[in-house]
Amino acid sequence: MSSVMKRTDMCGELRIGDAGKRATLNGWVQKRRNLGGLIFCDLRDKTGIMQVVFDKDIDEKAFEEADRLRSEYVIGVTGIVRERESKNKDLPTGEVELFCEGLTIYSEAQTPPIYIKDDDDVGENLRLKYRFLDLRKPRMQQNLAFRHKVTKCARNFFDEEGFTDVETPMLIKPTPEGARDYVIPSRVNQGHFYALPQSPQMFKQILMVAGTDKYYQIAKCFRDEDLRADRQPEFTQIDIEMSFVDQEDIIAVQERFLTRLMKEVMGIDISTPFPRLTYQEAMERFGSDKPDTRVGFELKYLNDLVKDCGFGVFAGAVADGKDVRGINLKGCNDKFSRKEVDKLVDLIRTFGAKGLAWVKMGEKMTSSFAKFMTEEEMNAIFERMEAEEGDLLLIVADKPKVVFDSLGFLRRELADRMGMLDKNQYNFLWVTDFPLLEYNEEDGRYYAMHHPFTMPNPEDLQYLESDPGRVKALAYDIVLNGVELGGGSIRIHDQVLQERMFNALGIQEEDRERKFGFFLEALKYGTPPHGGLAYGLDRLVMLLSGSDSIREVIAFPKNQNAVCMMSGAPGEIEEIQLEELAIRVDLEEKKDIE
Ligand code: AMO
Ligand code: AMP
Repeated sequence: MSSVMKRTDMCGELRIGDAGKRATLNGWVQKRRNLGGLIFCDLRDKTGIMQVVFDKDIDEKAFEEADRLRSEYVIGVTGIVRERESKNKDLPTGEVELFCEGLTIYSEAQTPPIYIKDDDDVGENLRLKYRFLDLRKPRMQQNLAFRHKVTKCARNFFDEEGFTDVETPMLIKPTPEGARDYVIPSRVNQGHFYALPQSPQMFKQILMVAGTDKYYQIAKCFRDEDLRADRQPEFTQIDIEMSFVDQEDIIAVQERFLTRLMKEVMGIDISTPFPRLTYQEAMERFGSDKPDTRVGFELKYLNDLVKDCGFGVFAGAVADGKDVRGINLKGCNDKFSRKEVDKLVDLIRTFGAKGLAWVKMGEKMTSSFAKFMTEEEMNAIFERMEAEEGDLLLIVADKPKVVFDSLGFLRRELADRMGMLDKNQYNFLWVTDFPLLEYNEEDGRYYAMHHPFTMPNPEDLQYLESDPGRVKALAYDIVLNGVELGGGSIRIHDQVLQERMFNALGIQEEDRERKFGFFLEALKYGTPPHGGLAYGLDRLVMLLSGSDSIREVIAFPKNQNAVCMMSGAPGEIEEIQLEELAIRVDLEEKKDIE
């Protein structure tokens, strides 16, 4: 075993000012070229790359050793830093090289199955399988370091503001009323199961009952949901709860935090207060409860203009109590041919849209539905949508949800395709006044839109029994560039109100006890008014680092099938373990994981 050469510098940090000094570097061989009497080797560590030169005439032994080097061998080198003859402008260290006088090979490496470079666009599953190699890429190391900076800033900030970091348990009682739980069987108490927490929600509220006053935690959360680019089965929240506060107090702390974060990790000054939209306004203007305001293209309501028109799709929709709304892609007529416009409907079928009506405001106006309309009717639409030559109008008639989802998606997606979403613009905003309850037609009951402990707006309390759908919640989301970064609410601290809430949700007495017993018990012994919020840390880091997926900012993420490609989780367990747990796996055929 060769001993470690004592490192004096990191590979990416040597500069022309270091020329003449002796340096010892450790790292991985990025590549090696043998030019006869000289061997050039790019040596890499997490800070960057340094060129190392081995000269046969100077140190024959080192030269011969160097000839053995292959990609990803781990070595130590010592020598003199000197100015390069031909400079490499693409490298921060490109003006110097290390003239080697001693080499130690610590370990050899098999030929890596993926290249260690940022633009190696192999399939993601292969990257995840060889994550230890993938993480060697400069970009990935930067992401890890950046994430560290974000969490460090959060810890410093909340510490300075008087928050206490408290750990809450990972093995908890299954929590109904949320997403699907990950469950863990108990051996000691056979037939009983723990759940992994979907969030520390009940525990952080109990900490408020306990008098902790201000709590934060960088908390792991687990949800067995269908995965998307910005969802993982296990993810991390910056979780916050405060006592004796109202919504404004919580928003103020978060704006201070985000201002500090943007300054500290991005060097960007953002201005506060952030814009606010009510849920209703967000839906009506942007078709989304997490609007991206980097682009306009706002939705316009057209029902009143088309209710009696000759186009059956529009008039019929209004007659059926549906909505007709449109967006104006200002100045974008030229960006889409007629054929392409006709294809846009394919993008919104997943939302249930059955068609997309359009007007191309070219030199001559063309449209998929103008032939059914009078000139006055068309002009009224143009006026409402502020249409001018050069614009492209897209209109959907359907149930409100379908219309909002479709147009909300189109305005952002098309803006993105046209390169109109500036990654360096950070539009934070609050969405407030969410509905308290959401009706589920399948189950024929209301569900809490956030969770059952969310405080109804006192102004709407009178409708909690008579018209539950009308009640707004003291709940708020923080949105950044069309992504829901976090959400929270003021909680119910009054037991009578909590009872009324359960009644509205149709949760029976015995179920309350079984599902939330310990929590309700805690609330009986003196509960301060309280509220909080949680950020999705992975999403925050994704957006600020300019990454396209949260998997880029999680060291060891799961793939779209909730599988860890590297370790092979989830795995099987021994028969004996199943016996101890009193569990039988009843599957005709076990599927391979992929
Ligand atoms: P909520 O469920 O809105 O609130 O979650 C808060 C934030 O967590 C992030 N998030 C996720 N990130 C990655 N993968 C997922 N599967 C995932 N699910 C959620 C989002 C989201 O905004 N206890 C409440 C907070 C509170 O009321 O204080 C809660 O968990 O960015
Ligand atoms: P048609 O007369 O069926 O060719 O339809 C004329 C235009 O109306 C086409 O561009 C269709 O895509 C569009 N259309 C059909 N259904 C809808 C709808 N529900 N909302 C908006 N446009 C629609």
